[in-house]
Amino acid sequence: MHCVLNMASHMVRGKGYIVSSGCSLVEACRMKVLGAAVRGRSSGVCGGPARPRGEALVVGSSPELVQRLGSQVEVRTGFITEEEEGLLLTELDHSLKKKRYQFDHWDDAIHGYRETERASWGAACQEVLNRVRSVAFPEGSPLLGPVHILDLDKTGYIKPHVDSVKFCGSTIAGLSLLSDSIMRLVKEDAHDEWLDLLLPRLSLYILRDQARYDFTHQILKDEESVFSGQRVPRLRRISVICRNLPG
Ligand code: OGA
Ligand code: MN
Repeated sequence: MHCVLNMASHMVRGKGYIVSSGCSLVEACRMKVLGAAVRGRSSGVCGGPARPRGEALVVGSSPELVQRLGSQVEVRTGFITEEEEGLLLTELDHSLKKKRYQFDHWDDAIHGYRETERASWGAACQEVLNRVRSVAFPEGSPLLGPVHILDLDKTGYIKPHVDSVKFCGSTIAGLSLLSDSIMRLVKEDAHDEWLDLLLPRLSLYILRDQARYDFTHQILKDEESVFSGQRVPRLRRISVICRNLPG
């Protein structure tokens, strides 16, 4: 069982597709972009600290990049309610508890995590996942059956990588539970082109096409978790990730 799951995550972030990028440079040449488009703003409940309406959830190295990649990157705040978060956590708790956080694999794409996969869900959670899939993927698009669950310890983080093109398709959609976080995208062949996505607790993010293939993605560690000049404390975070299959 253990082995199967390790294989699965290995496939998602298959060796040869992991790219380490010099992101401290990105930090150094950071430029704040104001007035970036905000997509999929919450229609209801929103977790995390209150943000004024209209405040950007996506900032980047230039307004042009934010504009150009805008349609391939979505953050929908308040996509699930706290109650739905609770249902997902209850359902996941049992399988996660059986695993230990992994800290010591220096060459892993992720530090301080445990993970699992789940193919069948109770009715309420299934409804949430259907909602994710109906907004993220085109109708009829073949999906990766099991949903991927990644539990990041408070000290955990995800290093820059590109998901395996062999096993995952054009779209990655993830729910963020328990904590706000920052996802950073960095263009693989031009490290000065980057986007930061603020992922509030209870939000859904979607990466498509170029944003998924040509940019690495990472989740910042707590010490580096600053969005547009504002500190975003990174607590333990669980993500529930749906993917489609390569075309
Ligand atoms: C991954 C990944 C992002 C997240 O597991 O490949 O990038 O939101 N996860 O946890
Ligand atoms: Mn990934």
